[in-house]
Amino acid sequence: MKMYSIVIMLIAVLSSSHVHAEEEKDPFRIMSQKSLEKLRTVEKVSFERTTHPNAQWFPEAGFGLFMHWGIHSVAGIQPSWSMIKNYPYGTDKTEYHGKDYYTLLDKFNPRNYDPDRWIEAAAKAGMTYAVLTVKHHDGYALWPSEFGTMSTKQYLEGHDLIRPYVDACRKYGLKVGLYFSPRDWGYPGYPVSMEHEVPYIHPPGRDNVKNQRDFNRFYEYTVGQLSEILTRWGKIDILWFDGMGWIGINDIRTEKTLAWARLLQPHIVINNRWGAEGDFGTPEWLMPVNAPEGWWENCISWSGHWGYSPDTPFEPNSWVMEKLVTARAWGGNFLLNIGPAPDGTMRPEYYERTVELARWMAHSKKSLIGADPVREWKKFSNVPITQKEKIWYLHVLPDHDGKLVIKDVPKPSKAQLLRTKVPLDYSYEGRKITLTLPDNSRTDLNDVIELYW
Ligand code: GLC
Repeated sequence: MKMYSIVIMLIAVLSSSHVHAEEEKDPFRIMSQKSLEKLRTVEKVSFERTTHPNAQWFPEAGFGLFMHWGIHSVAGIQPSWSMIKNYPYGTDKTEYHGKDYYTLLDKFNPRNYDPDRWIEAAAKAGMTYAVLTVKHHDGYALWPSEFGTMSTKQYLEGHDLIRPYVDACRKYGLKVGLYFSPRDWGYPGYPVSMEHEVPYIHPPGRDNVKNQRDFNRFYEYTVGQLSEILTRWGKIDILWFDGMGWIGINDIRTEKTLAWARLLQPHIVINNRWGAEGDFGTPEWLMPVNAPEGWWENCISWSGHWGYSPDTPFEPNSWVMEKLVTARAWGGNFLLNIGPAPDGTMRPEYYERTVELARWMAHSKKSLIGADPVREWKKFSNVPITQKEKIWYLHVLPDHDGKLVIKDVPKPSKAQLLRTKVPLDYSYEGRKITLTLPDNSRTDLNDVIELYW
C-alpha cells in the first residue's frame, strides 16, 4: 500500500515537472515573459505622436473595418454594456442581461470562422486596415491567455482566434489592428457598478492601501495580456485601447505603458483611449462638425449596435460614402463597424454591400484612399474636396443638388468625370468655377470630378 502511494506520488511529481518543463519551453510564454521584463526597465517618457517611418501610413489609410466579436455575439446583444442596467449605448437600452451575460461563455463556438473571407471582401471594398476586438469590456479574451481565467484557453480548447485574422490581413495587404479594452468587468474586484450612473463604492475592506495593491495586481494582469498580444502574431500595426481606470487611482501609468508598447512594436500606432494621450483621436458614432487637429478616425456601426445585430438593417452605401468622404476631406479615417455572427460568418448584406463598394473603388478609389485632404474646403466650395499632386477631387454625393461652385481659385486646365474620363464643361468667371453634372452622369454613390491644375 505504502509502495503504491509512493509510485503514484512519483508519477504525479514527474508528470507535473514535465508539464512545467513544457511550459518553460513554450515560445509564446517565453516571449511574453521577456517583454514583461522589459516593462520593468522602461522609463516613463512623455508621450509624443509617433514619428516612426512605418507608422506614417495611418493618416492616408482612409477606410478601415472594425469588428466587435465575442461571447456577446451569441445573443446578438450590445457587447459588454448589456450586463449593465440602463447602459448608455445601443439601440435598446432596456435590454439587460445582468449576471446571465456570462452564461454566454459556454455557448460561443465559432465553428465556421472564416476571417479570410471577411478580409478579402474588405480589401476589395477599398479598406486598408482592420481592427478586431480581441478583448472587450466583458474581459473575454479571444486568444488562449496565460493571464486571468476567461479566454479561449478555458472555453474553446485553447483555440487562437486571432492568428487566422492576422494572417488574413497580411494576405490581403491590410494593416492589422487589435482592439483591447483594459477596462475589464470580468476581472474579480474590478471597480464597476452594474447599474449605470450608480457610482461605484469600494467593496468593504478596500481602503486606500489595499486599493492601490489591488490596482497594482490588475495592472500586472493587464500588461501580462498585452505582453501576449504584442508578441504572439508578429507585426501589429494598431493598438486600439478602450478605457483604462480604477476608482481612487490617479496614476494609470499611461506614458510608461505606451512607451513599452512601442518598445515591443516600434512602428505601432496607438489610439488615445488608455489615458488621454495617443497617436490619433477617436471621435465615435457622430462625425465631428469641423476638421479635427492631428490624426483622427471616426467609428460607427453599419448595422445596429457594435456587436452582431442579426435583425437590424444595414445603412446603405450612400451613407457609407458620405461618412468616408467627410472624414477624408478633413484628413481623417473612417472605421466602419460590423458585428460578425457567433459562428464566425458575416451577414450576407456585408458581402453584398462590399461588392457594391468594390465596384465604385475600381474606378474612383484614388480620390479617397491615399488622397490628401483639402481641410478648408467649406470656405470656398459647396462640395467636399480631396487632392493628390496637381489634381483636386470634387465629391458629388447623391444629395447634392444643382450647381457646383468653387470660389477664389485659378482656372483649371481640365475638368473630367473620374469614372469615365469624359471631359466636363464648366464656366470660369471672377476666379469662380461653376459646373453642373448632367443628370445622366449622376449615380447614387459618389460622382467624382477631377480638376487639373
Ligand atoms: C465605446 C463603447 C464600446 C465600443 C467602443 C467603440 O467605448 O464603450 O462598447 O466598443 O465605444 O468605439
